Amino acid sequence: MKTRILAIDPLHPAPDVIAEAAHVLRSGGLVAFPTETVYGLGANALDPAAVARIFAAKDRPATNPLIVHIAERADLVSVAVDLPPIADEFVRQHFPGALTLILKRHPRIAANVSAGLDTIAVRMPSHPVAQALIGAAGVPVAAPSANRFSRPSATTAAHVLQDLENRVDLILDGGAALIGIESTILDLTVDPPAVLRPGGVPLESIRQIVPNAAVHSRFLEIDSAASAPGQMLKHYSPRAELRFYVGTPQSMIAHIAKDAHALIAAGRRVGVLAADEDRLDLPGAAVMRLGSASDLDQIAVRLFSGMRDLDAQHVDVILARDFGEDGLGLALRDRLTRAAEGRVLRVE
Ligand code: TXA
Ligand code: MG
Repeated sequence: MKTRILAIDPLHPAPDVIAEAAHVLRSGGLVAFPTETVYGLGANALDPAAVARIFAAKDRPATNPLIVHIAERADLVSVAVDLPPIADEFVRQHFPGALTLILKRHPRIAANVSAGLDTIAVRMPSHPVAQALIGAAGVPVAAPSANRFSRPSATTAAHVLQDLENRVDLILDGGAALIGIESTILDLTVDPPAVLRPGGVPLESIRQIVPNAAVHSRFLEIDSAASAPGQMLKHYSPRAELRFYVGTPQSMIAHIAKDAHALIAAGRRVGVLAADEDRLDLPGAAVMRLGSASDLDQIAVRLFSGMRDLDAQHVDVILARDFGEDGLGLALRDRLTRAAEGRVLRVE
């Protein structure tokens, strides 16, 4: 298959381009499209054969369930059943938005979307291209992030092409994703509701609605992660080995500088993911500035592209710092911990 790329205005998507992409979806094809979090790789969620093609294109294990995307709040009842009362408030505040809810699956949704589970992950994206496409398709759209399995999520059409060229029918190029990391996943089938993946909606916002919401991401326990290097699922990973430093800003920067010098002296190519204000004088290293540590929105926008850019420079090792637990910091920590596959260094 030859992948086609169509440019599309992110704010005012051209109806003819949307109609063409919707036709591909309805015909059982795969369309990569921008959402406000990251690019998604979409297929008709009512068509098991189309859904199976997503898993094949990504090399994704069939045991890893997908998120279903809807165009309107009213569509929720066509993909999920037995909604708990608390769902209303999350829908009111975060549909559309960067929140995915786990609910009971409606039987009309193809079982392979959920990897056979009786639950379903549902999100209503706010991106105008995503909304227009799903609306025009007239069916719920199953869409994981549009990257090869275990690679950093795609935040631009160029990233999608890098990973999925000639594996998908169409890529809608609507520019860079606005948030840059994936949605927060909240399980409403358990009591209390549990965050399974921190993401674009901060934990603080979730707890405004459910103060006792639990956090079940096993990747946030820095100490247990560090005690099991190599045991973790490889995810969001650059090709280079990533080492993740957690501590005070001063100690993180000091250790990164020291380790970078030693690695360079040993002949290894070093990349660093740093904040703008980090004082790092590292000739010979590729230092990628992600933004100010006081502006995590900006850091999130650049995180995955920073990993890909360092890979493009063929570094052997990437040294990355933590950004704390507040706001998007928790999601950044989760992605960096996974990318590090357990190589987490506590440096306090
Ligand atoms: O922002 C996002 O969420 C992006 C955009 C495209 O919407 N999508 C995304 O999808 O990140 P993906 O497939 O990369 O991640 C979906 C996650 C998986 O880790 C999967 O385990 C979880 O959602 N998930 C899906 N269905 C689930 C279910 N029924 N129960 C628990 N977890 C589920
Ligand atoms: Mg993904």
